[in-house]
Amino acid sequence: MKNQAAATKGPEGFEYFYSKMWGSRWSSLKDSFTKKEEKAYRRNKWFSGEFIDSGELIPGVYAKGEVTESKDLKSHYVMDAASVIVARNLKPTSGSKVLDMCAAPGGKSLVLFEEMEGKGHLVLNELSRNRKERLRRVVSEYVPQEMRDIIDIRGFDGNKYGLNLKDEFDFVLLDAPCSGERHTLNDQKYLNMWSKKRTRNLAGLQYSLLCSALLTLKSGGEVLYSTCSISSLENDEVIAKVLKKKGEQVELVHDLDTFGFGEKTEYGTIFLPDKEGSIGPLYMCKLRKK
Ligand SMILES: C[S@@+](CC[C@H](N)C(=O)[O-])C[C@H]1O[C@@H](n2cnc3c(N)ncnc32)[C@H](O)[C@@H]1O
Repeated sequence: MKNQAAATKGPEGFEYFYSKMWGSRWSSLKDSFTKKEEKAYRRNKWFSGEFIDSGELIPGVYAKGEVTESKDLKSHYVMDAASVIVARNLKPTSGSKVLDMCAAPGGKSLVLFEEMEGKGHLVLNELSRNRKERLRRVVSEYVPQEMRDIIDIRGFDGNKYGLNLKDEFDFVLLDAPCSGERHTLNDQKYLNMWSKKRTRNLAGLQYSLLCSALLTLKSGGEVLYSTCSISSLENDEVIAKVLKKKGEQVELVHDLDTFGFGEKTEYGTIFLPDKEGSIGPLYMCKLRKK
């Protein structure tokens, strides 16, 4: 009994859960999580000074760079290249109404803003007050003041959109709160707090946020679901539950742009950092509301 309990919590529980889920790949994944994260430098389209960067990974995103400032704007936003790929797959059309449901600190929001070319309406939502302030700061550091009026920063629980704003948005990015195993593995405090119950609870929250995203979408609208978790409970299994319970209302969108990275899963794509030149961890899957 005692051993069983130990295997569902803390470092041993974490090890047991992920080694069972990933089998022989777990040790290389774990190694890659403890190595220094390979961050990428995404160019800020509206920066007017000289760009210092090299080694293009995907268009506009570089392996090496230097964040510099001109006037009030910064030159590059430092983020995982997989996050840029995810955000680029929402593909908001010109003039559309877009919701970034869990937006802070805002790396993906900046990608969405860039793609909207100053037209439409971009709602950046973030529940945590502190993180919402960080998001506000990021917007002010990267978006020219005269273009900020299409951006609306809000602080609601993402679940409220489906309840209160039905059929409102053309596109939703749901970059959901998740287990973030890379971070967990590198922080003893979080590793001690890890439990199988937590990944299950997060999967429940992710499912309800995804249902909210579907409700707040107009018919024909699209939601891009993503997490930085490697727990299948929080990735394909969330999608499987939506397809099972709401299959008549949604369809999978195939053929996402992966820029040569990533691996297919049952419903989506996962970017994993354990192979040479790899990026992630990040999972994405796109759904269309019929
Ligand atoms: C994975 S992070 C988002 C990262 C962000 N998209 C980016 O690219 O910079 C998830 C965010 O969701 C927020 N969050 C958690 N629960 C939420 C909820 N119920 N509604 C809205 N946001 C929530 C967290 O505070 C966190 O900032």
